Amino acid sequence: MRVLGIMGSPRIKGNTELLLDEALKGAQSQGAEVEKIIVDRLKIAPCREYYGCLKDGNCVIRDDMDDIYPKLLEADGVIVSSPMFFYGLTSQVKALIDRCQALWARKYILKQSPSDATRKGAFIAVGATKGQKLFDGSILTVKYFFQSIGVEYAAELLVRGVDKKGEIKEHSTALSDAFELGRKLTQK
Ligand SMILES: Cc1cc2nc3c(=O)[nH]c(=O)nc-3n(C[C@H](O)[C@H](O)[C@H](O)COP(=O)(O)O)c2cc1C
Repeated sequence: MRVLGIMGSPRIKGNTELLLDEALKGAQSQGAEVEKIIVDRLKIAPCREYYGCLKDGNCVIRDDMDDIYPKLLEADGVIVSSPMFFYGLTSQVKALIDRCQALWARKYILKQSPSDATRKGAFIAVGATKGQKLFDGSILTVKYFFQSIGVEYAAELLVRGVDKKGEIKEHSTALSDAFELGRKLTQK
């Protein structure tokens, strides 16, 4: 079993990455092979609506997404993680998701359905404030992303009230909850 972790924060070893690392450790504890992508380190242009993908399901822009598409399609589990930036995902991770319009086109326009295998996805998010609707928009985005790439939205970990770099370590349950999320995602 292969699990792909998408690290959507530009802050290395910040709250999002610490949570994702725990989730990936949880997956490893079940024997899964894990890979972490730090999106901020990649060159991913935003979608330009050239719509070349409507013809054959491939994006016409050549950049680091070339390597990400196969990873997304081959993973048995996908974990998207992001801090909340203005009540949404970071622009880094949103660019990656928008470029998956090519995979959306394969499924909904070209009717190439993704493999039948049950692939599971999870969403990990952290924000500084405590607003009730803090994660609502991002959950919808991640759900629709997973649907487009043939992944079931199976779990989420949403942590409010955490702001400074590394502050998540002081949270009473978040890191162990993240480990558990990764463990359960890969449990047979
Ligand atoms: C540009 C920017 C926008 C932010 N917008 C929000 C927001 O809308 N709501 C919120 O609760 N926190 C917001 N925050 C705070 C971060 O979500 C918070 O600091 C988080 O813990 C950062 O996680 P990280 O260490 O993984 O980057 C924002 C931070 C930045 C830099």
